Amino acid sequence: MEKIERMDNKISFIGAGPGDPELLTLKALKKIKIADVIIWTDSLIPEKILDFAKEGSEKIKTSSLNLEQITSIMIKKFQAGKTVIRLHDGDPCLFGAIKEQIEILKKEKIEIEVIPGVSAFQVAAAYHEAELTIPDVTQTIILTRAGGRTGMPKKESLKDLAKHNSSLCLYLSARHVKRSQETLLEFYPPETKVIVGFRVSWDDGWTSLIELKDMANFSIEKKLIRTTIYIISPAINTSQNRSNLYNPSYKHLFRNNK
Ligand SMILES: C[S@@+](CC[C@H](N)C(=O)[O-])C[C@H]1O[C@@H](n2cnc3c(N)ncnc32)[C@H](O)[C@@H]1O
Repeated sequence: MEKIERMDNKISFIGAGPGDPELLTLKALKKIKIADVIIWTDSLIPEKILDFAKEGSEKIKTSSLNLEQITSIMIKKFQAGKTVIRLHDGDPCLFGAIKEQIEILKKEKIEIEVIPGVSAFQVAAAYHEAELTIPDVTQTIILTRAGGRTGMPKKESLKDLAKHNSSLCLYLSARHVKRSQETLLEFYPPETKVIVGFRVSWDDGWTSLIELKDMANFSIEKKLIRTTIYIISPAINTSQNRSNLYNPSYKHLFRNNK
């Protein structure tokens, strides 16, 4: 039998971050550089991420393929001795649809690994210097979406989640922004700050700080449909509050205040 000498004996599912190549992890970068075949989510990853790929590598877009087509390409290329990577936007554990791909590959006895990436909400928060967990305001971040064709489990309706008044990040929701705003206004004050980010960290991307009462009109005006993140949070621009962690009167393992 012919000996296979590929650079990597497993298929890596890689979080490529939100778009800016400088937000790739070093692990992701290393894998992109050695891959023979890069299967990538072209609808959500800017092409310049592929500038790091080695010459002659094969780049396959997934936007027009279904699960069986994607996994069959991965299996064929891998079995032909190629180093194969699968690039997802942001972090693969969030709305990445990786589980179904991994299950098919495992049936073929292909080893896999997942490399985390920076998710869209983290970059949008960073651009606004926002801490989403402020003591006595909220210590919780909810990452969710507004239903749509995929639907939501009954106990996770936006209404139920909004009751917590926590920091709330809405993925995949621009098309449902009117309905989302109406629901959120039942629980959050109209002046609650919202970070809206479109293609955050792409060359043509932007973010804006607005108020919840304006979220729908703003989105419609800007024609937001895809690649949009919303962070609704009582922690943004609040005058509260210093943490215990750096409070001089608070003792902990690393600061005894002797
Ligand atoms: C299929 S989900 C994947 C999320 C991704 N795994 C992550 O961690 O960011 C795609 C959605 O993520 C959000 N998203 C991904 N990249 C984004 C970006 N650069 N700017 C704004 N939103 C983004 C949008 O809500 C988009 O509709």
